[in-house]
Order: sequence, then C-alpha cells, then structure tokens
Amino acid sequence: MNVLLLGSGGREHALAWKIAASPLLTKLYASPGNPGIGRFAELVKLDIADHSTVAAFCQEKKIDLVVVGPEGPLVAGIADDLRAWGIRVFGPSRAAARLEGSKGFTKDLCAKFNIPTAAYGRFGDLAAAKAYVEKTGAPIVIKADGLAAGKGVTIAMTLEEALAALDACFDGAFGSAGAEVVVEEYLTGEEASFFCLCDGATALRFGTAQDHKRVGDGDTGPNTGGMGAYSPAPVMTPDMTERTMREIIEPTMRGMANLGAPFAGILFAGLMITDQGPKLIEYNTRFGDPECQVLMMRLKDDLLVLLNAAVDGQLAHMSARWSDDAALTVVMAARGYPGTPEKGSVIRGLDEAASDGAEIFHAGTAINGGALVANGGRVLNVTATGTTVGEAQKKAYAAIDRIDWPQGFCRHDIGWRAVDREQTGK
Ligand code: AMP
Ligand code: GLY
Repeated sequence: MNVLLLGSGGREHALAWKIAASPLLTKLYASPGNPGIGRFAELVKLDIADHSTVAAFCQEKKIDLVVVGPEGPLVAGIADDLRAWGIRVFGPSRAAARLEGSKGFTKDLCAKFNIPTAAYGRFGDLAAAKAYVEKTGAPIVIKADGLAAGKGVTIAMTLEEALAALDACFDGAFGSAGAEVVVEEYLTGEEASFFCLCDGATALRFGTAQDHKRVGDGDTGPNTGGMGAYSPAPVMTPDMTERTMREIIEPTMRGMANLGAPFAGILFAGLMITDQGPKLIEYNTRFGDPECQVLMMRLKDDLLVLLNAAVDGQLAHMSARWSDDAALTVVMAARGYPGTPEKGSVIRGLDEAASDGAEIFHAGTAINGGALVANGGRVLNVTATGTTVGEAQKKAYAAIDRIDWPQGFCRHDIGWRAVDREQTGK
C-alpha cells in the first residue's frame, strides 16, 4: 500500500514508525513531516488546507490510504473532500469531527443521549453567560466553543476570574472559536485519556494514558499541549473501562449514527474519574500528542491492518493486542515554551541517547546546514518501555541525560502518580 500521512509532530512520527513496520506498506509519504519522519517517509510539501491539491497528489502517487494526524484538517472536512475523489481516508468526516470542533455540540449530544458529563450552559451572548455564572458561582469552567489550540479553557476558581474569562472570549481572544461559550460545572477526580478505534458502528478499545498538561514539575505553571504521558492509566481498571464503554463511548457511537454522522477514526475521550464514576470532560477526534507515542510503543498488532479495518467498517471482526509493559514519554521543549520558544539551537547525541532501547520521536525539529535544530515548542519525545512505569521512567530520563541540547528543558517528574502507586502498592 502507498500511504500519505498528514502532520508534523511527535504523534505523526510515532504513527510513521508504526506504519513503516507493517508488511503491507509499499511506500510512505508524509506532508509536511519532520526530520524524524523523514527516516521512514518521503516528505512532500503540500498545502493541506487546499484539499484538491492533496487529492491530486493522491491520484498521481496512487495513494491507497490517507492518515490524518491533527484535528484542524478534519474539522475543515478533509476526509469528506478526499472521499469525494474516491480516496480512502482514516479520520472522521466534518460532521463527526464536530465532537472536537464544537464543545457545545458535544455537550448537547451528552444531554440528548444521557452521557455523564459536567452540567453546563451554552451561550452566544455575554449578558446571558454572565447571568448563568453569577447564579452558579465559582469554581466554574469557561470554554470557547471552537478549536483554540488547547488555550480556550479557563478553570475559574473565583467569580471574578470567570467573568474576566467570559469578557475575553466575547472580546475575541480566541477569534471565531470564542463567539460561543460553554460554561460548565467544575469536576474533581483523576483525569485519564481513553482511546477507541472506530469504524462508524464499532468502537474498539485502543488503550489508555495519562498526560501532564502543566509546564513545571509538581504540576505547576501554565498549561501546555502536554509535557509527557504514560500508558496504561492505572485509574482505568477493568471495571472503569467497562463503565466508560457502556456509559460514554457506546451511547456516543449510537448517538452520532442517529444524527447521521457516524464516527470513524480515533475517538479520544478525556475523562474525569469522579466518585460517581467516569465523566466525559471532552472529546478529541484524533490521537493525543504525546499520548499516541506511548500507545504506539505498546501496540503489538499491525497498525495499518487496524486502520484499514476501521476505514472498511470491519472492526467488529478485529482485536488489538497490547504489550503488558508500560510506556512513558518525556517531552523536551525549547526554552520559552509554552510562550515563544527559541528556535534554531543545535541538538546532538540522539543516536547515543537511543542506544539503550529508547525511541526518540521528533516533535518540532528541522535540519539547518546539516545539523538537527529545534524548530518548535515541543521538540523531542523521549520514550521508553519497562515492566513498570518506574522502569520506563528511569530509561527515558537516562536517555535524556545523553542528549546534548543545553537550550532544551523537560519536566523531571513525568509519571509521578503511577510511580507513587507502584511504590506504595495502592
Ligand atoms: P482541554 O483544553 O479542553 O483539554 O481542557 C484542559 C483541561 O482543563 C483538561 O484536561 C482538564 O484538566 C481541565 N478541565 C476541563 N473541563 C473541566 C471541568 N469541567 N472540570 C475540571 N477540569 C476541567
Ligand atoms: N495531549 C493532549 C492532546 O493531544 O490533546
């Protein structure tokens, strides 16, 4: 098969690594890709926003499957447009990607199909939103409805913060994504990421993970796209997994089919495990980044076979097998992240760093004058496996110690919650 992978981050590097291991693969192309992906794929420059350019490339290169990494093109309808040209695509339609593209859509789906989630209100004007917030009080959560690159959520611990967040949203802080706002109940518990591979009718469990959103050790500092992750998530016990499938995922699959928008692709549920059980915080309609990196390290089966089955509606006949090992990834970021990261610093020593079995996925790198340089906020994902999260953690940090990149930084406590559990036996 000829495959085209869209995207440029660590998630796409992990997907490329796994797809390249499939005996079904003839040739992998990636656009735009990155230097790490370039080891497995021919990198091509395509204007991904121009769907007919992508379709023409697919026809010319006889692409059998397009795999879409990020949410932007999915919400913009790339899967529908390529399918209209007869091209097979792994990823949800525009209508199904509303699960990520509109928080209000997802909340209404939850209300209609009885899916446990935080109580909420949906508002298109400031006065009504403020009245609701004043009535409910703080803590409360304010969310821009649309895609806001992970920045559209404010956890307001006071009424003043909540009102300020509403002002910012309606003032255009998130552009058109904030023209509508979801205000919701503040949930407490432990968070987990739950993944399913879906074909429109069947949802196949596809692993669990936990990530670390704050930039600093001890979960301090501003939010980021994710500073590290590990899999599996210990909080997702067999019972919690069954409940999540029955109470959240299956009603979502039925609900989307019912609305004429069956979901095919990766359904990524952000969950809060509360004392009443799992509640949906939000959906994403693609793999998490960096969660994908740890999932790919543990997946024993051929990813391309599974993606094909999802595209062909054949998942009811499939299973996915996972290694019993834990996997953990630490994000190395460029100084300045999550503000403005410094670009262009030289990174050395990756081959030596990977010599003890770690996989180093590139998230934001470029080649400049023959040298590997930082070219983004999150730059490398240093990933390892072990019989415990603690062992995977040790191997990942040992690899980081061998990387020569003074301008990079990382958190030093990725996996702390799981390692604590392993040590205390709770
Ligand atoms: P998001 O950018 O939508 O992934 O949300 C960012 C983070 O905000 C989530 O990972 C949660 O930690 C937190 N969050 C979102 N909604 C809620 C909620 N209703 N209650 C508590 N925390 C929330
Ligand atoms: N790491 C969270 C995400 O990909 O949305």
